[in-house]
This record gives sequence, C-alpha cells and structure tokens, in this order.
Amino acid sequence: MDEQHISLFHTYNDFCAAYEEGKPREVTVPLLQALLKDTREHFVCEEGLLNSNGFPGASNHSKVHRDLLTLMEEYIGRFSCGEIGSEFDLLDFLRWWLTNHIAHEDQDYSEWLSKQASNNKRPLPVLPRNSRGD
Ligand SMILES: [Fe+2]
Ligand SMILES: [Fe+2]
Repeated sequence: MDEQHISLFHTYNDFCAAYEEGKPREVTVPLLQALLKDTREHFVCEEGLLNSNGFPGASNHSKVHRDLLTLMEEYIGRFSCGEIGSEFDLLDFLRWWLTNHIAHEDQDYSEWLSKQASNNKRPLPVLPRNSRGD
C-alpha cells in the first residue's frame, strides 16, 4: 500500500509541476486522469485488504473512498472544462485528500493490521531437549 501511496504523490507532484509551469490543459488533464485512475485502483486494492482481514472500519473506509472519488471526479471535471484553473481549488483539494486521508484514515487500518499481525504471532516452536539429557 505504501508504494501505491508514494506513486499517488508522484503523480500529484507531476501535475503540480505542470500546472505551475503553465502547461496547457492537454498536458495537465491527462495527469489528473492518471491520478484518478491510480486512485481508483488503489482504493480497490486497499478495500480488498481491509475486507479480507476483517477490519471493523472497512465499510466506513470504503464510504470515505467513494466520497473522495466523487469529489475528485467533480473537481477534475470542472478543471477539464476550464471552470477552475486560475485558482488553487483543485491543488488544495488534492493535497488535502492525499495528506489527510493517507496520513490519518489509512493510518487507522495500518495500525490495526500491525496489531493483528503481532497478536497472531505464534511463539517459536520449542525444540525438544536431547533425550539423553546432554
Ligand atoms: Fe490509501
Ligand atoms: Fe484509504
């Protein structure tokens, strides 16, 4: 999951760089579409992980993902048709969701999963002592 998070930040940074350099929408919009596609795929992976491990907050987390995707689609749609572009609504939104969701909400399941892993850790098998006692 962490590699996917890093990759999302990379795509976001590529978009920011292109946007700040004043690149046309033909350049910036595909970057946003890539970010949206990678985000969708990341959410599918993450939800699979949470469901298969029985994370208690899995359905809430999926709802947060759905809401984020809806907002992303809306912002990206508005940016693509030129409705937003000179102000930083979109950058602020993307930065907010990437940092807030990954640093806080994803952290909850991450901590839970590590706790589960350490609870399930079986003690190392004890080797039988030498039957002759030496
Ligand atoms: Fe995530
Ligand atoms: Fe998430």
